[in-house]
Amino acid sequence: MDHDPEYEEKLKEFEARIARGEKIEPGDWMPEEYRRQLIRMISQHAHSEVVGMLPEGAWITRAPNLRRKLILIAKVQDEGGHGQYLYHAAETLGATREEMIEALLTGRAKYSNVFNYPTLTWADVGVIGWLVDGAAIKNQTMLARCSYGPYSRAMVRICAEESFHHKQGKEMVIQYALGTPKQKAMVQDAINRWWWPALMMFGPHDTDSPNTPVLVRWGIKTRTNDELRQEFVNEMVPELHAVGLSVPDPDLYYDETTGNWVHGEIDWDEFWRVIRGNGPCNKERLAARRKAHEDGLWVREALEAYARKRVAGVVS
Ligand code: 3HC
Repeated sequence: MDHDPEYEEKLKEFEARIARGEKIEPGDWMPEEYRRQLIRMISQHAHSEVVGMLPEGAWITRAPNLRRKLILIAKVQDEGGHGQYLYHAAETLGATREEMIEALLTGRAKYSNVFNYPTLTWADVGVIGWLVDGAAIKNQTMLARCSYGPYSRAMVRICAEESFHHKQGKEMVIQYALGTPKQKAMVQDAINRWWWPALMMFGPHDTDSPNTPVLVRWGIKTRTNDELRQEFVNEMVPELHAVGLSVPDPDLYYDETTGNWVHGEIDWDEFWRVIRGNGPCNKERLAARRKAHEDGLWVREALEAYARKRVAGVVS
């Protein structure tokens, strides 16, 4: 699309600011595509955090002891808070909460593939903490350097809390891997079910990632999907092996020349099937979000009524 010279001049200055490592703030000039991409990414990130409360939340009432229950309650509560930070960050770009929630509840917006799988045993809670939050931290640490100020700052706060999520999951998995044969079998089963969905969290291969080029150009992503995925695999494989757990990938091998653990081909048909709404739990997850939204209507109406009275000076 041809732009007028004034636009070209503004774009040049915008890109120079990013090259200098400056943060773009809500009131600054930005290309509409920059705004659109950020609203897309941040709102879907927020949806992922809130939907991500559901798989683990199901285990709060069934935690094996008070300590684990307290940790899980804190983690699930954190995820809800992450969703709020991120919805707010998206609102600084002009998106409204209503529009974003509507997009999620109607199935138009995406959320992370990984939350569309069932949590079948208690060991899933530990594996989600170690693998899923571990993958999320890999991605979110990168996003903490994002060129858009509010997103970058939200990531700094979120990463601090995610590292607790990651550590508590790792502690649980190691305890079970070194525990009774039944505990080890339970945690290996969970690894077998969550390993590939966790690799898919990083998105399609860079060659199939339509958004990555512009996101990298404008400093929203500073690493690519494949780069982060490879770093995650390189970290996770030795740690899983160290506690006697295996990776469910018969094609996995260590490449001495690159120092990479080379994983087998990801089932992209499953990836696209799941993110297009046909995963094991998509319908259940959206039904739960729709019910929560309906159940919360009275709260929203009460707040709006109070806000109107505040504006009218009827209440202080
Ligand atoms: N799940 C669902 N959809 C995905 C996906 C995934 N794992 N990976 C990619 N997609 C979608 C993209 O959204 C895009 O669709 P859209 O254009 O309709 O939005 C399409 O697949 C093509 O993918 P691209 O690689 O071109 O998309 P991106 O460049 O946006 O990369 C991403 C995908 C890496 C997920 C990127 O959007 C991103 O970094 N998002 C922010 C981080 C995020 O959302 N993390 C979700 C996990 S949050 C979490 O785990 C909570 C923790 O507390 C447990």
